[in-house]
Amino acid sequence: MHAPDLEALKKEAAIRAVALVGSGMRVGLGTGSTAKYAIEEIGRRLAAGELSGVTGVATSEASDALARQVGIPVEALDPRPLDIAIDGADEIDPALNLIKGLGGALLREKLTEVQARQLVIIADHTKLVTRIGEKAPLPIEIALFGFLSTIERLRAVLPAGRLRQNGAQPYVTDNGNLIFDAQIPEGHDIHALERQLKGTLGVIDTGLFLGMAQVAFVAAPDGVQELR
Ligand code: 5RP
Repeated sequence: MHAPDLEALKKEAAIRAVALVGSGMRVGLGTGSTAKYAIEEIGRRLAAGELSGVTGVATSEASDALARQVGIPVEALDPRPLDIAIDGADEIDPALNLIKGLGGALLREKLTEVQARQLVIIADHTKLVTRIGEKAPLPIEIALFGFLSTIERLRAVLPAGRLRQNGAQPYVTDNGNLIFDAQIPEGHDIHALERQLKGTLGVIDTGLFLGMAQVAFVAAPDGVQELR
């Protein structure tokens, strides 16, 4: 017997997380290839009559379209809390601090997930790190206007980084902004870094999700680990 592939592991993690969704809940719907499995599983449970009255708040245009396609009623974000949000991550440290945004949805994800009573992360084991910044770059969403000046300010803090491209063009987020992907060198205090980046003119938000997640379902070939 060979080890399950990463897609099978991601789906397993998603199914574990969606088991926490109950009827009548308002659910934050994440973005990315793992969150997609969660959206599909919510749709499947609604269609099977295992759930009813669930509504979703989508964190990207892509997740909005998928949710509607699988039969989840989608609402706009408003100030009411969400019962739960389920999303993937690019890095997860032992304290469940995260890097998110390689899929480009970090701003809507943070706006949505900060309002969730519970943020549940789903991932395969390759996303686990001992230090935030170990493997993944940090996506930083910046305003289009004056982006070269913003990048110069950012390089004073995080010198290694590049503007995300979509072919020959800069990648544009659902919000009409750009993304600067920066390496976090060892030795940075991530809380101080977040404050410094958020205080940098032209920065809209960062993919650092610190102290936001309560639980992560992380799938490895030997089973799904629940991390708290
Ligand atoms: C999108 C995200 C995604 O959740 C993150 O990139 C993980 O994606 P995937 O599940 O495809 O690995 O933050 O902005």
